[in-house]
Amino acid sequence: MEDVVTLTYNGNEIRLPVITGSEGEKAIDISRLRSETGFITLDPGYANTGSCLSGITFMDGEKGVLRYRGIPVEQLAEQSTFKETAYLLIHGKLPNRDQLTRFSILLNDNSLVHTDMKAFYQNFPRASHPMGILSSMVNAMRSFYPELDSQEEEITLTMTRLLAKVRTMAAMSYKISRGHELVLPRPDLTYCENFLNMMFETPVKPYEINRAAVNALRVFWILHADHEQNCSTSSVRMVGSARVNLYAAISAGIAALWGPLHGGANQAVIEMLTQIQEEGGNFKKAIERAKDKKDPFRLMGFGHRVYKTYDPRAKIMKKMCDELLESLNINDPLLDIAKELEAVATKDPYFVDHNLYPNIDFYSGIVLRAIGIPTNMFTVMFAIGRLPGWIAQWKESMDDPKLKICRPRQIYTGNQGFDFIPSHARS
Ligand code: ACO
Repeated sequence: MEDVVTLTYNGNEIRLPVITGSEGEKAIDISRLRSETGFITLDPGYANTGSCLSGITFMDGEKGVLRYRGIPVEQLAEQSTFKETAYLLIHGKLPNRDQLTRFSILLNDNSLVHTDMKAFYQNFPRASHPMGILSSMVNAMRSFYPELDSQEEEITLTMTRLLAKVRTMAAMSYKISRGHELVLPRPDLTYCENFLNMMFETPVKPYEINRAAVNALRVFWILHADHEQNCSTSSVRMVGSARVNLYAAISAGIAALWGPLHGGANQAVIEMLTQIQEEGGNFKKAIERAKDKKDPFRLMGFGHRVYKTYDPRAKIMKKMCDELLESLNINDPLLDIAKELEAVATKDPYFVDHNLYPNIDFYSGIVLRAIGIPTNMFTVMFAIGRLPGWIAQWKESMDDPKLKICRPRQIYTGNQGFDFIPSHARS
């Protein structure tokens, strides 16, 4: 039997088809609504709106489930590499040995950054936020790597360049900010090892690969690799729908991710925990402030649009945080504050009633701090991790023959038309 909902308006009826996803989630297809009724829908923040059909990532916010291409994120975090997970997201299946070798060679071959880009980095004011720099630099990549004639080659190479070079560019900006010589990528190191080496190797102190740090980074990036239609991914899809080049679309995603309500929350969590520590460790004040509707303060790293239970990524991150700090023999007082804060907040009726639990950002900053990443680069780390997801989502949208430019409507609430008044006649 055809699955439809019937909408009655002004004595008329319209039958709207119901679309059912592979995991049973349902949507009302309203694509004929305006042409048949004159109505549009209004859904600020898109909390009830599906923007696309997608076969990449599945989330169940009530049960705390997250799968990439059908594979539970827990299994990927346990067994996969970041490179393999990136391949899975972009190409839809895990690579076989040959495919993985070819992918690795491509990433290695494209890992250098055009030396002229160094001048850009050096001329940003010293206090610039790395996310602003990264967004600008990724947009600038189109000028350094002009479009190729072959569409297939252009797409493959652009995706590869982004995955390979953004990691190099992030380490490069760190070195420049410290006034140090750049360290180039090495073909004998893995994706994660290479990044840590480019960050921390110096001519006077060789970087010794630390297995626990490499593993933590691997898990961190896998957990961030995709999260369906979040704010930055939707930005990539929306900007991409105007058929801009992939660099420009990713640059828009990076700009969206910068926001403290999104990826910028990992930096905001550490700033919040540091402030609590400086004020004598009184985290209860932060909880009270977060509950006060007259105070704009929010408990950073808590709450999620989709998860109404514990974020499955936060569970893995918290466990890894404990393991990492133990193996590096680090005693971070911020971790103790975070745990106490979580224990009290998750029992508080306000947080329980609002379904507010730690999200991925609550513990990720402590992990990054332990690895030695400076706080203002936390969101850049998120961006490197999210790149495969952005690319996969962009590719899926471009492969859709029915893709239309994204152009929402509005309900106008401004002045009704009136005539222009010349300046001399205005009161
Ligand atoms: N602290 C206190 N109250 C909160 C919090 C919080 N962290 N998050 C949500 N609420 C409350 C709101 O005040 C609101 O209360 P009300 O219904 O009584 O008015 C209710 O919960 C719903 O909040 P919304 O803002 O409508 O929820 P939304 O789904 O739009 O926002 C968001 C989700 C942005 C993540 C929000 O929970 C938040 O601001 N969290 C803190 C920032 C953060 O950690 N962001 C990272 C998210 S994960 C990621 O992007 C990687």
